[in-house]
Amino acid sequence: MERNLTRDILSGMFVVSTEGSACIVDTVMQVSSSKEPLISVSVNKNNYTNECLKKNSKFVISILSKKVDGNIIKKFGFETSRDTDKFKDFDYIEVDGIKVLKDIVGYMVLEIVDAIDVETHDIFIGRLVASKRFNNDEAMLYQYYQEHKDELLKVTTKNNQTAWVCTVCGYVYYGDTLPSDFKCPKCGVGSDAFEKK
Ligand SMILES: Cc1cc2nc3c(=O)[nH]c(=O)nc-3n(C[C@H](O)[C@H](O)[C@H](O)COP(=O)(O)O)c2cc1C
Repeated sequence: MERNLTRDILSGMFVVSTEGSACIVDTVMQVSSSKEPLISVSVNKNNYTNECLKKNSKFVISILSKKVDGNIIKKFGFETSRDTDKFKDFDYIEVDGIKVLKDIVGYMVLEIVDAIDVETHDIFIGRLVASKRFNNDEAMLYQYYQEHKDELLKVTTKNNQTAWVCTVCGYVYYGDTLPSDFKCPKCGVGSDAFEKK
């Protein structure tokens, strides 16, 4: 089958954090240019981070490097802050009351100026008010994550069942067959976006 063309839209790997929540995102983009440019991030309405962003006035975008601990992607990309403190097992600092991981290339602090409803997601737009670089490590691209996610996430099968991995967000479904009407509970794509492991 022809590969979905949207997978050729290049993007990076980030953690968006705000007071009370944080999660992995690949949908960060600089959308204006000035000394304090606007930066947008698209966050699924089902994510707790979306709820928290709506209550807060600031968020932080952290850039992940190729060397990032895969457990960070597992924790921040597949668990919810609704019932767990994702930062508990990792080194972090606090910036304006927002938790920020230390295992990153650097971070940007943004003041929310707008939010746009885009069906499944909301796009939060923030003005860059501060930033800090920790190192010059190479940033991880979403495409790099896709190619290396087996090692990064160490996908293992349960009771000899087949693992079906969502090629969009990495969610894993276990079962001998994947129902054709299956929809990814994390990102909503259909069964044709899943790969058998
Ligand atoms: C590689 C990757 C990219 C992701 N990109 C996004 C994204 O751009 N927007 C989004 O809302 N969720 C994205 N997610 C899913 C969230 O990180 C995930 O649903 C998380 O568990 C939400 O946590 P929360 O409930 O604490 O907000 C991505 C996950 C992965 C693994």
